[in-house]
Amino acid sequence: MQIYMMATLSLVGSVVILGLGVPVASEASQQKGQAQFIRCAACHSTRAADRPSTGPHLEGIVGRKAGAVTNFTYSERLRKGDFIWDEARIDAFLAAPQSTDPGMCLTFRGLAKAEDRAALLAYLKAPAS
Ligand code: HEC
Repeated sequence: MQIYMMATLSLVGSVVILGLGVPVASEASQQKGQAQFIRCAACHSTRAADRPSTGPHLEGIVGRKAGAVTNFTYSERLRKGDFIWDEARIDAFLAAPQSTDPGMCLTFRGLAKAEDRAALLAYLKAPAS
């Protein structure tokens, strides 16, 4: 019985340790993503409830239809854009905004490092509240 209890306790212990490890790791990449978001924050919010800015809010942007924010006046290209902002599409935009989506986010010049783009994507998926 005692052995069984000890085994159970150590199992619970490992689960707790593993469980703690996961949020710490994603928190670190989320923080990197949050730092990258400085390039977007002048024009975008990550919350739908915030008042409209220069650009549309980006809450739920990963998997969202292009031009879907109703209280934002888009360019004709995005308003009629019949596509979804999935991860691959956002990554391509982040790498080379002027060649994939010219004129969309004018002052943003692109992120060359795949690592920075991945961190920013992770942050866009789950912005810190
Ligand atoms: C100088 C202002 C500005 C900056 C900086 C900026 N954006 Fe934008 N963004 C806009 C505007 C304005 C639009 C709408 C463009 C249109 O209607 O064609 C837009 C549109 C978008 C869209 C399409 C949204 C939709 O609903 O279809 C995405 C995605 C986006 N921006 C992501 C970003 C990200 C990520 C960054 C930072 C890396 C960024 N933008 C930086 C101004 C900006």
